[in-house]
Amino acid sequence: MPLIKVCQLSALSGVGSLGFYITEVTPARNIFIVVKDDQLYAYENRCPHTHAPLEWSPHQFLNTSKDHIQCANHGALFEIASGRCVYGPCLNQSLARVAVEISQGSVYLILE
Ligand code: FES
Repeated sequence: MPLIKVCQLSALSGVGSLGFYITEVTPARNIFIVVKDDQLYAYENRCPHTHAPLEWSPHQFLNTSKDHIQCANHGALFEIASGRCVYGPCLNQSLARVAVEISQGSVYLILE
């Protein structure tokens, strides 16, 4: 399983979410990371509604109150910790989780 370093942990502090286009694997993967309460959550950047990317602007994956992941296409809201849709056209479907870990101040994705 490829272990891909995406950034320093410090790059995530205060930003809420960051998107990454991972070209070290084939096919390339579109993934985002959300930081909440010092925990990292990574998901495929693919909405379960139409499989489109979620963000309305680069790296903006959260709603204005920053308590849910939001899809910009049709407004679906997802729980940050579980990825489950709690509002919108894909209700109860989930974003695809990606394993993420921190080692020596760097953030790594573990891709299958
Ligand atoms: S594509 Fe995400 S809510 Fe429709």
